[in-house]
Amino acid sequence: MEDPEKTLLFGPEAVSARVGEMAQAIRDNHPREDILFVGILKGSFIFLADLIREIGHPCQVDFARIASYGSGTVSSGRLNISLDISMPVAGRTVILVDDIVDSGLTLHEYKRVLQTKQPRSLEIAALIDKTGRRNQQVELDYYGFRIEEGFLVGYGLDCDEQYRSLPGIYELKIV
Ligand code: IMP
Ligand code: MG
Repeated sequence: MEDPEKTLLFGPEAVSARVGEMAQAIRDNHPREDILFVGILKGSFIFLADLIREIGHPCQVDFARIASYGSGTVSSGRLNISLDISMPVAGRTVILVDDIVDSGLTLHEYKRVLQTKQPRSLEIAALIDKTGRRNQQVELDYYGFRIEEGFLVGYGLDCDEQYRSLPGIYELKIV
């Protein structure tokens, strides 16, 4: 029986099919290009691992650890980059990868940071586009699923570090 506090939104097969389509779109836009994927920790790690294996041609990976929230759940409006990438970005085809876009602050701000390093191109891929609380404009070049609201867990997404290992994506009922 399913846990009453969470509801399955996207099962493992649906996620896998969608990640395959995103990889295809990336390949179509960048045929034979050597792409540097920059994952935002920690939420992107499972999505990114599946995405690069679907891409199927050589690529590189780096990670940044960024928190947009101060204390509590209200955005502080500032980014805390506790781990930055170490690979050179200048002249590279770069795709920034995150699990979910909410207010948009994290990707909006970190994209600006990466842009100053002068990549050849810089795109964004997010597994989930959560639109209801957006207050910073972010152009998503690739997204997996779009929802209006709700707190999602599984497939890398957490709530207080729990649920990341679930193979599907669930909505957590928070009352
Ligand atoms: P933003 O800067 O408001 O767009 O914050 C995005 C970050 O908040 C994501 O990278 C997640 O770490 C976290 N986040 C936002 N919504 C959710 C959710 O529904 N589940 C899990 N993490 C979330
Ligand atoms: Mg995150």
